[in-house]
Amino acid sequence: HDLTGSWQDEVRRLARARDAVILAHNYQDPLIQDVADHVGDSLALSRIAAGTDASTIVFCGVHFMAETAKLLSPDKTVLIPTARAGCSLADTIDADQLRAWKSQHPDAVVVAYVNTSAAVKAEADICCTSSNAVEVVNSVPADRPILFLPDQFLGNHVRRQTGRDNIEVWMGECHVHAGITAAELRTQVAADPEAEVLVHPECGCASSAIWLAGVGDLPADRTHILSTAGMLDAARDMTAKTALVATEIGMLHQLRKVNQQTSFVPVNPKASCRFMKMTTPDLLLRCLREGRDEVQLPQDIVERARRSVERMVAIGK
Ligand code: 13P
Ligand code: SF4
Repeated sequence: HDLTGSWQDEVRRLARARDAVILAHNYQDPLIQDVADHVGDSLALSRIAAGTDASTIVFCGVHFMAETAKLLSPDKTVLIPTARAGCSLADTIDADQLRAWKSQHPDAVVVAYVNTSAAVKAEADICCTSSNAVEVVNSVPADRPILFLPDQFLGNHVRRQTGRDNIEVWMGECHVHAGITAAELRTQVAADPEAEVLVHPECGCASSAIWLAGVGDLPADRTHILSTAGMLDAARDMTAKTALVATEIGMLHQLRKVNQQTSFVPVNPKASCRFMKMTTPDLLLRCLREGRDEVQLPQDIVERARRSVERMVAIGK
């Protein structure tokens, strides 16, 4: 415990010396979450990155999140404890693939989930996160076709929520969320039929046939498909004894903080993102001491990528 305390003090001291704000995603290791200035989902952290007075942003998350912060605050120094922290979902599409897809649908509006590289964002019209995907898609005139990328499960969720049938969905997936299956969810619900159910829209189970048909054994009134920030809001007023949580397990830390009465149980306890967990206490120290890894973006894509992100951030303001 003492060691943790002195590590935290050192992190806070170094952050002050660098005039740095530390942002941590909800999937980071609990130690990292607890030392950060702000913990949140992709959208909340993007908004904080856009509005901060600090001259340096230390992004404890994965690379596309740090890139998004850089796009929104190009004059600030943006650091990530390791540039190796990628995202298997973002890797399912590159700029060449998107250009080829667009050329087959020249009239379409391209909506890109933030889980994409800056080069892909530069080819998109507007970005979205899991918090605002439905709002963003609703902001596109109903008669315009949409190319939604890269997550198929989020894309299907948006299609259902908006009732639009003119959305083409890229067949990408996140290896962590795709691995949280309908079979696992059903087993857990059967074992605890009174539980509330929180599901991230990237999950394989979010689009399962039983869910779509509505004839399965998922409790429709207690099943909530939400972003990580949405889960926290829902958890605050929860009175259920148990809530089953279908998302990356780092999320449990914040859920348990906001509600100590309900027991939060992971649907798949092995659903850990190895990229998120690359931010170790040692690497955070190295980052603050040595100013690495710094996020730099090629000038030719910055302007175009920023427009897509800014259009998203403007929605719901
Ligand atoms: P949220 O925007 O819901 O925090 O999700 C980010 C992410 O990487 C999901 O895997
Ligand atoms: Fe990417 Fe999945 Fe990890 Fe989120 S959980 S950062 S989508 S690999």
